[in-house]
Amino acid sequence: MGKTILEIKNLESFYGPIMAIRGVSLKVEEGKVVTVLGANGAGKSTLMKTISGIMDPEKGQILFDGEEIQGREPHAIVRRGIVHVPEGREVFPLLSVDENLSLGAYSRHDRAEIARDRDMVFDYFPILAERRNQEAGTLSGGQQQMLAIGRGLMLRPKIMLLDEPSLGLSPLLVQEIFAILKRVNRDEGVTMMLVEQNARVALDLADFGYVMEIGRIVMEGTADRLMQSEDIKSFYLGHQEEGQRGERRWKRKKTWR
Ligand SMILES: Nc1ncnc2c1ncn2[C@@H]1O[C@H](COP(=O)(O)OP(=O)(O)O)[C@@H](O)[C@H]1O
Ligand SMILES: [Mg+2]
Repeated sequence: MGKTILEIKNLESFYGPIMAIRGVSLKVEEGKVVTVLGANGAGKSTLMKTISGIMDPEKGQILFDGEEIQGREPHAIVRRGIVHVPEGREVFPLLSVDENLSLGAYSRHDRAEIARDRDMVFDYFPILAERRNQEAGTLSGGQQQMLAIGRGLMLRPKIMLLDEPSLGLSPLLVQEIFAILKRVNRDEGVTMMLVEQNARVALDLADFGYVMEIGRIVMEGTADRLMQSEDIKSFYLGHQEEGQRGERRWKRKKTWR
């Protein structure tokens, strides 16, 4: 076991009376990629919003590097190195690619290093360098997702929370983006927590995975182990191409390490 960088204990989050996170516990080891799989509405985005401080939990703890961070302000959480790349690639459409990346570094003042990090982002995403003066709103969906990730990298994350980066993108683009995420994890040492409905690509990248259903963790295991699981195969992998993902309940619930 490596060092645990992020640990969540018995977390509960609500939207008014609706309990969206129902006692979630999980761990992320430093340097690893951990995925949280789940159908639409399982609570994946709510979990990420609670970690990044956009939402306050009702109960439970979030420990980052051993320190409790639940309920703190988003900017204080970002400053610790927890960077959330939200669902739906939220870029500033009227600002250029360059300006979007500068905004990513808003909390920093080290100009030379910011320039170096921008070059790093352009190395990972050469298409962004080509379009650096173009308005972000004119980029394709895949390029906007790249920009959202690049902007996150400008904050020098220790851990990146990636909310469904594959959503709405062609299989080819998804492969391209996930290959880059793998390099960022390996070469920059950025720990990743990746929320996905696309189990195949997520498990391919991840070391360890959890499965969420209606606000709870119903299964966990190494990525290899989850890939072999009959439940995962029939629920996420088997019917994915036919668009039947998420329409079946689990036959049985199990947990293993
Ligand atoms: N702003 C909101 N207000 C009320 N309920 C919400 C809101 N956002 C999400 N929910 C509900 O919380 C549950 C979890 O949603 P979400 O975290 O977005 O799931 P996922 O990201 O796994 O698709 C769902 O039942 C959803 O309808
Ligand atoms: Mg979501």
